[in-house]
Amino acid sequence: MTGIDPRHDFPELIAIGDVEIDEEHAVLQGLIEHLIESATAMIDGKRFSDTFSDLLIFLLNHFQTEETFMRNSRMPAEEQRLHKREHNRLLDALHRINKDIVRARGSAAAARLDVCEVVRREIIDHIAHYDVNMKRYLVTKGPGVPD
Ligand SMILES: [Fe+2]
Ligand SMILES: [Fe+2]
Repeated sequence: MTGIDPRHDFPELIAIGDVEIDEEHAVLQGLIEHLIESATAMIDGKRFSDTFSDLLIFLLNHFQTEETFMRNSRMPAEEQRLHKREHNRLLDALHRINKDIVRARGSAAAARLDVCEVVRREIIDHIAHYDVNMKRYLVTKGPGVPD
């Protein structure tokens, strides 16, 4: 076992305070859980590779949501640039992994779980180090939300 348990790592990380972004992070959590399930299923590698592709497409759209949010906020241009650069780095890294998965179709469940661990860690790290900063640029704050 790799010790993967995204259910414990996500809840406190996904509360950015923007409804759309928070909902997308919840979907992302579900997709990662789904990826882990498909990694351990005793089937050929196609389902895993399809699930990974679904996750990549969702992530691409999610990053566009965040970049639109940042453009419409008062976030300094340099901070936006760094966040966007990290989105691109992450997409590149996951695309490379995806190519390897397609090439090694039907690879062992252990190798798929290693991929899951990388994906889970990269996405959680990104939320923890970049996405949380968007909290400071929320336009509307509900009652009880501190400045
Ligand atoms: Fe982000
Ligand atoms: Fe995000």
